[in-house]
Amino acid sequence: MLLAALGLDPKNTRSINDLAKRAEVLPQRLRFYEEQGIEPTNEELQRLAAATGLTELELRLKSGLINRAIIERLSAHAQDVAGILGNSPAINSKVRARANKSLKPAFKNALGTLFQGDCMDIMARLPSESVDMVFADPPFNLDKLYPSEIDDNLRKSHYLQWCEEWLAESIRLLKDGGSLFVWNLPKWNTYLSAYLNRHLNFRHWIAVDIKYSLPMQSKLYPSHYSLLYFVKGPRPTTFHADRLPMEVCPACCADLKDYGGYKDKMNPLGVNLCDVWNDIPPVRHAKYKKRKEANELSIKLLDRVIEMSTNEGDCVFDPFGGSGTTYAVAELKKRKWIGVEVGPVDGIIERMESLDEEAEYLDRLRAGYNHLFLPEMERRRKELGRWTVGNIPKGPSRKRKEPDIGTGTGDQRLLEIES
Ligand SMILES: C[S@@+](CC[C@H](N)C(=O)[O-])C[C@H]1O[C@@H](n2cnc3c(N)ncnc32)[C@H](O)[C@@H]1O
Repeated sequence: MLLAALGLDPKNTRSINDLAKRAEVLPQRLRFYEEQGIEPTNEELQRLAAATGLTELELRLKSGLINRAIIERLSAHAQDVAGILGNSPAINSKVRARANKSLKPAFKNALGTLFQGDCMDIMARLPSESVDMVFADPPFNLDKLYPSEIDDNLRKSHYLQWCEEWLAESIRLLKDGGSLFVWNLPKWNTYLSAYLNRHLNFRHWIAVDIKYSLPMQSKLYPSHYSLLYFVKGPRPTTFHADRLPMEVCPACCADLKDYGGYKDKMNPLGVNLCDVWNDIPPVRHAKYKKRKEANELSIKLLDRVIEMSTNEGDCVFDPFGGSGTTYAVAELKKRKWIGVEVGPVDGIIERMESLDEEAEYLDRLRAGYNHLFLPEMERRRKELGRWTVGNIPKGPSRKRKEPDIGTGTGDQRLLEIES
């Protein structure tokens, strides 16, 4: 957008070089700003504006580099600006036009409906404020080959614009108090959270540890996926996070953390879930992988978010089906669900029709939550004379306000920020 605002054609290297020379800005910096959607420095903007005969304000408006100072000026002159712009429709007519397409479900059962198609077409047909939770795991724009043959190598601005379109629809579909989760690379989620912050209420940036991170030259090892968690309105209608067992040495059963000396405040149901999850396994084993090509997520991840943000009978929507993990877990947890996949859906349908193995796995997973120690560990600790739920040690007496124990952070500042 910057090059167009400067009257330049991105393919015309000579004209870019000429302007860069006149404005004393390196041409490669101009291209970098264009490709990354990053704002030039103030000095560069002033020189670019002067070299093209524009004012800095004109250049900012033309290139969409609108800062808070401009927003304040626009708001002070709202009537004049509206008069100039004319009455454009508030509703995105492109999205509404999609609502007229007729689409038949590819699969339907008592709880769920799966559509094959573009999620934007399906969402346009769903009523506002009709779902309790949205979980979205879109393609990451990493030039991957999907069975759907979607273009996974869009220009950055195009990818982000597309994300904002399905996010806008997701927000419309959410009921007040409903939750939205977006799974993506931290890089993309920095942009998406900036967008979401304008529409929803931020709850958490959950860092989900990647078990096998690959080294990258001149960068830190990327070691987490980002899971954004927002709610519509001031507070979530439903929030019940699982509690996890306390970390202990598997060999000698000893405590691995001291919880700031607050053991006497340990909750017998376990440790509070925090916003760094390092117990989510990647789905790599062929036996468990439902579709070879899909970036299938772990059942454990979906179980956790569905448990946290919904109740039985609530409706979960996932616009990017893949192998159908969200739908399988929603089904097993007796939530209603609506799904969409633009590519082949046979794998999802087959999965939905044979969930027994996954039901057993989910039962085993759920048995591991909401106990400070699992029964076998409680027994071994008792045998070894270590403290147990029936015998929690007294902590040091403290005058100051004590945190809800089991956060494991021990950092009072975080608790204060969060409260
Ligand atoms: C990262 S995968 C989702 C994996 C899924 N969470 C799972 O656990 O199996 C993203 C999926 O979105 C699908 N997709 C991409 N664009 C889409 C669109 N516009 N509408 C519906 N599905 C889309 C892709 O074909 C791909 O299967």
